[in-house]
Amino acid sequence: MRSVITGTGSALPANCVSNADLAERVDTSDDWIVERTGIRQRYIAGEGETTSTLAIDASRKALAAAGVDAGEIGLIILATATPDHTFPATATQVQAALGCGGGVAFDVQAVCSGFLYALATADSLLRTGMAKKALVIGSETFSRILDWDDRTTCVLFGDGAGAIVLEAKDVAEDGPGILASRLHAEGAHKDMLYVDGGPSTTGTVGKLRMKGREVFRHAVVNLADVLREVLEETGMNAADIDWVVPHQANARILDATARKLDLPSEKVVVTVDRHANTSAASVPLALDTAVQDGRIKQGDLVMFEAMGGGFTWGASLARM
Ligand code: ACO
Repeated sequence: MRSVITGTGSALPANCVSNADLAERVDTSDDWIVERTGIRQRYIAGEGETTSTLAIDASRKALAAAGVDAGEIGLIILATATPDHTFPATATQVQAALGCGGGVAFDVQAVCSGFLYALATADSLLRTGMAKKALVIGSETFSRILDWDDRTTCVLFGDGAGAIVLEAKDVAEDGPGILASRLHAEGAHKDMLYVDGGPSTTGTVGKLRMKGREVFRHAVVNLADVLREVLEETGMNAADIDWVVPHQANARILDATARKLDLPSEKVVVTVDRHANTSAASVPLALDTAVQDGRIKQGDLVMFEAMGGGFTWGASLARM
């Protein structure tokens, strides 16, 4: 039995904000942002757009692409660091809106690695027989936890959602499905990337704080290591990979990681220029983009990878 990705979907807020738009409110420039990050624009949630509304939109598209009725979904795992409410889990609100109550629904919080954590968890639960069909979602509204006076962070992030339908299927050895996943966390690095509020400390939501240079350095090393681990476990090598769908933090992190593994940059799906860093949403959003534009096709070997606050990081290899 394998967990097979049978449909993808994504959603973005209506409001697109260019670097030039941002330069009108903070001391920055299009040149600085493009040169240091590769980001040209991002989408920012407006009134009525929340983590759950984006997730519901992306999920409906993923269900349609898979040809699966919402009533067949027995498991929903939603990765987010920006839930609609402290509780209940945003996954339960998605479940209610889709009309598939009664199954399992919960959120996972691993910041930018959230989708990788959700995917590996859903894969494990499907393989125990707990459900047959799952929705795995990454959805974020990071614009609501940004300090819009801090130019070192506010230019980097955007809002959005991506979703996949994951189905338990009996497949041939060389057939589709998740082949291996590896996850890691190192909590000693909290101060490099965190939100300075929370229900149990300040009683506030808080704002994102980051030591960008240190995060950059750790990201490249950790991502290259976890990619090697997954390749080793599956007996594959970098040349076997058709596409890498990485967390879209920064074009320079993507380039540096690809170089470390001798992966040609043409095999790396890049959406950071259009979406900026959408945290847990970025991997499924990039996956859906490359499926929709015809780059990623059935049978392709695809590596997913991400690193985020905690630190947390992980990778999964899947045949589409
Ligand atoms: N516009 C103009 N100038 C800026 C801006 C801005 N938006 N932000 C910072 N600067 C200035 C700084 O003040 C500094 O000026 P100074 O030299 O006069 O002091 C100068 O630019 C250089 O600042 P650095 O922070 O050293 O710039 P760096 O080259 O490291 O780039 C960046 C910063 C883009 C944040 C980079 O460190 C980075 O990408 N780090 C990774 C962080 C990341 O991706 N985090 C996402 C979450 S974790 C994850 O997803 C993996």
